[in-house]
Amino acid sequence: MKPKILAPKGVAEYFPPESMEFERIRDGLAQSARLAGYRYIELPVFEDTSLFVRGVGESTDVVSKEMYTFEDRGGRSLTLRPEGTAGVMRAVIEHGLDKGQLPVKLWYSGACFRAERPQQGRYRQFYQVGIEAIGNEDPMLDAEVISVAHIGFRNLGLRAFTTQITSLGDKNCRPAYREKLSKFLSELPLDPQTMERARINPLRVLDDKRPEFSELLKNAPLMLDHLCNDCKEHFESVKSALQTIGIDYEINPRMVRGLDYYTRTTFEFVHPLLGAQSGIGGGGRYDGLMQELGGSSLSGIGFGLGVDRTLLAARAENLHIEVESLDLYLIPLSTAAREMAFEIAIDLRRQGFIVDMSFGERGLKGAMKAADKSGARFSAVLGEDEMASQNISLKDMKTGSSREVRIGDLFKSLQNEEK
Ligand code: HAM
Repeated sequence: MKPKILAPKGVAEYFPPESMEFERIRDGLAQSARLAGYRYIELPVFEDTSLFVRGVGESTDVVSKEMYTFEDRGGRSLTLRPEGTAGVMRAVIEHGLDKGQLPVKLWYSGACFRAERPQQGRYRQFYQVGIEAIGNEDPMLDAEVISVAHIGFRNLGLRAFTTQITSLGDKNCRPAYREKLSKFLSELPLDPQTMERARINPLRVLDDKRPEFSELLKNAPLMLDHLCNDCKEHFESVKSALQTIGIDYEINPRMVRGLDYYTRTTFEFVHPLLGAQSGIGGGGRYDGLMQELGGSSLSGIGFGLGVDRTLLAARAENLHIEVESLDLYLIPLSTAAREMAFEIAIDLRRQGFIVDMSFGERGLKGAMKAADKSGARFSAVLGEDEMASQNISLKDMKTGSSREVRIGDLFKSLQNEEK
């Protein structure tokens, strides 16, 4: 036997029946974006490497250690997208999407790639649903973006997650704060590696989870205490808008996002039942990104929600995820019956019902088992008697009860059942 080929290490893949829950979660999150007027954008999975280097930031782990970068046959350096925001911004600039009504509100979904050390909830290929609102600084837009994620999670049934927010300041107040933090860090007994991190981006050191660090960093200056008046006012308005719409939040002044483009409002959705990889989504404002990528100076805000982790969170909360099931499974007992069942199935599918049937010469027992496994709401056996009488017995797979219906009335019967 030839050796089997396995999936690359650390990729998330889904197959039935789990894949149907995955699909439902992705669609549920996307629906929340649609409800708020975000429109779909389909983006390339690979981009020019410099887009991420400039957009996401060289000092981040994502860019310095985790990108899947390769040279194509024309000698261009390309990278599999590690996230969606930079690509959206590139498309907005390239196609002038910001020339019309502002904000431009877009949503996207798809696979992202980061060469991280795989573990539960952390994959090298994972899936995001994201939104970006570009070209408006209204703090209510920040609250809207947070609400879209919140409503998406809630509508899927999630309850246990927390919404953490903070402000990272802007180009006016962050440099002074950064200097203050650098000075504080320079007086600590840091190891050479951490010192190097502090040199590249001192804010990132605040994220160090090593226990000895929490003590050392206890008195570190925090951005929230050093906001300029504009940023302070902006943050107050975001909080007040969240209160108005009844979204509970926690302030996490030590939140450090893994991407460099953030300014002002940043947020994360954290699920306490997920262990180390507890972030089910995150995002924030990125007021300098568009300019950094060669566009105008419009501001933006958005989020990326992790579909894989949301599915894990749903499981951790024992949620029943409603998936679309078959309406009818047909079981023909002869070649002639199979032809007729096929016609019935096609006819019902043309009318929008989800119908499957057993194919090939299969015994009644095997076909019944398949009907059970299919998760269909109804099943019906089609044999000589049924073909002659044109009556069929429609079996409710949940209750086990059956009732006779005319084959020609199957459509109406299934339709009535839907009500
Ligand atoms: P991010 O926080 O890097 O933000 O990723 C967003 C979400 O993607 C995370 O909260 C997590 O649920 C999921 N995720 C990230 N990495 C992995 C992984 N290796 N395995 C499984 N899930 C993962 C962004 O990507 C930003 N683009 C979000 C954004 C949009 N900010 C503004 N606009």
